[in-house]
Amino acid sequence: MSEEACGETIEILSVDLLDEQRPYVESLKRLAASLRLEFGWHYLLDLAWILSRLGAVDGKKLMDAGAGTGVLQWYLAEQGARVISVDRMSRAALPLRFRRRFHVQGLRPSDLSPAWSAYLQGFRRPARGAWMRRWAARGYNQALDLVDWLLKPSAKGSVVIYNQDLANLEQIADASLDAVVSVSALEHNTPQGLQAVVRELMRVLKPGGVLLATLTAGRDQDWWHEASSGWCYTDNTLRQLFDLPPNAPSNYGRYDELFEKLRNCAELRDNLASFYFHDDHKGMPGGVWNPQYQPVGVCKIKSV
Ligand SMILES: C[S@@+](CC[C@H](N)C(=O)[O-])C[C@H]1O[C@@H](n2cnc3c(N)ncnc32)[C@H](O)[C@@H]1O
Repeated sequence: MSEEACGETIEILSVDLLDEQRPYVESLKRLAASLRLEFGWHYLLDLAWILSRLGAVDGKKLMDAGAGTGVLQWYLAEQGARVISVDRMSRAALPLRFRRRFHVQGLRPSDLSPAWSAYLQGFRRPARGAWMRRWAARGYNQALDLVDWLLKPSAKGSVVIYNQDLANLEQIADASLDAVVSVSALEHNTPQGLQAVVRELMRVLKPGGVLLATLTAGRDQDWWHEASSGWCYTDNTLRQLFDLPPNAPSNYGRYDELFEKLRNCAELRDNLASFYFHDDHKGMPGGVWNPQYQPVGVCKIKSV
């Protein structure tokens, strides 16, 4: 995790990452399946890019910024990292299957409810279909959660849940983290909001520590993508918001070529998560493959 491992850069994520980083892609798919999680349509590119630039994490203290219940935090804990999982959405009722396996704790008592209370809440989780089907699906999932809680082997690392806005990480000390990672989260902030978030993330990073964030890219102008409730940012805007030097490399010059490859990527197109077919507000309405933007990675290093 140093300037050598990842120079400051802005990189639209090519679908070639799927083959170049195949071992990460396959491990992530295995872990997600075992946790009954699905990937956003471009997340395998985001995750492969972050992991390939992050280096060894065993024993390191990392933040997953805008983590939700996403796969990355669990993957990093399996590799031995101590992860602070931050999101403004509450994960207090985190299902049992994550808890013991990844040594999950709340940063404050309110960040994680007791296991028994979360388990009972699981019976009220939304499900689809007629009431009999919903009832059976909930019962089945709850039984699987209990089995996972009792039997799944433990990770080497741990995850601390912190339900908080990234613009105000008051419980985290200055210069206390080795790295910050963020998967497709920061674009859900306005440009002004994102500037405040980046300032706060740089405050908590140790000098020499790396911020690896993926966002969504706009070609010629910043624009709001309604279906995913996110901003698509130009090279210039990202450079300003992340305070990157003018000579930091970027591949925005290849925007059209990379976008054409993405639109034609059968591996992503043919494996859309099931939620896209039921929810038009997840970014791919109706489950119809029609990418409107590209994922982009930003690597920023805190100066020593
Ligand atoms: C599209 S989800 C991605 C979640 C996760 N990174 C994953 O890989 O599944 C974006 C998440 O970022 C969180 N987020 C965005 N801006 C945030 C902010 N300023 N503070 C805390 N959480 C934020 C949202 O609440 C949401 O859970």
